[in-house]
Amino acid sequence: MGEDVRTEIVKLTQRLLDSIAVGDWETYQSLCDPGLSAFEPEARGHLVEGLAFHKFYFDLGKAQTPRCNTICSPHVRLLGPDAAVISYIRIVQYLDGSGVPHSACSEETRVWHRQDGRWQHVHFHRSATA
Ligand code: GLY
Repeated sequence: MGEDVRTEIVKLTQRLLDSIAVGDWETYQSLCDPGLSAFEPEARGHLVEGLAFHKFYFDLGKAQTPRCNTICSPHVRLLGPDAAVISYIRIVQYLDGSGVPHSACSEETRVWHRQDGRWQHVHFHRSATA
């Protein structure tokens, strides 16, 4: 049972990252608790709460070039039947303005909470790798 949940959490996280990559706000929103809290470089050291901060980037429109998100070495810790923490390195492959491919890496921890039978993303922390 624990292994099935771990696999589900990895898949949900990949779905979340894919929704960001293609600018799919509907999917991103459906996976997130409205009170999502986050530390990420874009917030310059502040804890942001709610989805408006994240929607700003989706509203800028879809990326004109492809992006590929890879989850490396995921570690899933179950905190009970309805809560899980996943930590991993995220690699984003993208093209610069000249069409040259680059990779950006970050450390991410995301917390999922099952509410009324549905997993919802409730908190994350992203740091750029050194
Ligand atoms: N910046 C949105 C996210 O990483 O979930």
